[in-house]
Amino acid sequence: MRMILVGPPGAGKGTQALRLVSSYGIPHVSSGDMLRAAVKEGTELGKQADGFMKRGELVPDDLVIAMVIERLGQADCQNGFMLDGFPRTRAQAEALDTAMDNAGIRLDAVVLIKVPDELIVKRITGRRMDPETGDIYHVEFRPAPAEISDRLVQRKDDTETACTARLEKYHAETAPIVPFYGEKQLLTEVDGVGAPDEVTERITAALANRAATSA
Ligand code: AP5
Repeated sequence: MRMILVGPPGAGKGTQALRLVSSYGIPHVSSGDMLRAAVKEGTELGKQADGFMKRGELVPDDLVIAMVIERLGQADCQNGFMLDGFPRTRAQAEALDTAMDNAGIRLDAVVLIKVPDELIVKRITGRRMDPETGDIYHVEFRPAPAEISDRLVQRKDDTETACTARLEKYHAETAPIVPFYGEKQLLTEVDGVGAPDEVTERITAALANRAATSA
């Protein structure tokens, strides 16, 4: 399975990816996680990306494309991957296409998780991350166990101001790649409103349906 999860910030891409990768036995390739790790490690890429991320802007295409294409070339991605947060611009989608053509591989599906803007700010500002496990919590929708609550962190871009900027970037730059995958018959749209378990069921059912109809 080679697939992409796309959707606005806070749609639940990370939450769903963590649930789905074990059932498909594929690695989770999150451009946001990779960039945050680079910022934390203080690498040259991290230093360049940090300001863009804090402001809720997109990191320049050349930096992100090189980082993700290099990651997809690693051994654990040879039999599949779940891309989360990439591609996010037309240039990134085209670069991914070219890299996959060159490698002689094809995408199986692009899943769009749809959540209306009015629900996004609450999801984003209430998000808390466990730095030890990478688990994603929410102060209201998915409270963390009391014994780990002291170590939870909030992302620097999970402010209302940065969230608004991220939503604007999503609509201006990322939403236009959705029809690009629609034309390629790769797109599956899933309602992202509801409990995380319900959304997982919808994605799993939609992917199974795709596999059955393309078999
Ligand atoms: P990235 O890390 O990719 O962030 P994002 O796309 O904005 O998405 P999020 O991680 O915020 O949300 P999500 O959809 O994963 O939601 P989650 O599951 O956590 O990118 C961050 C930044 O890095 C970008 O702004 C940019 O600067 C840079 N960047 C990354 N990739 C780039 C690229 N390709 N090009 C250029 N720049 C790039 O859920 C959110 C919250 O909601 C959680 O608290 C969760 O518990 C809760 N929740 C989840 N599902 C549900 C549900 N069904 N019901 C209720 N609550 C829910």
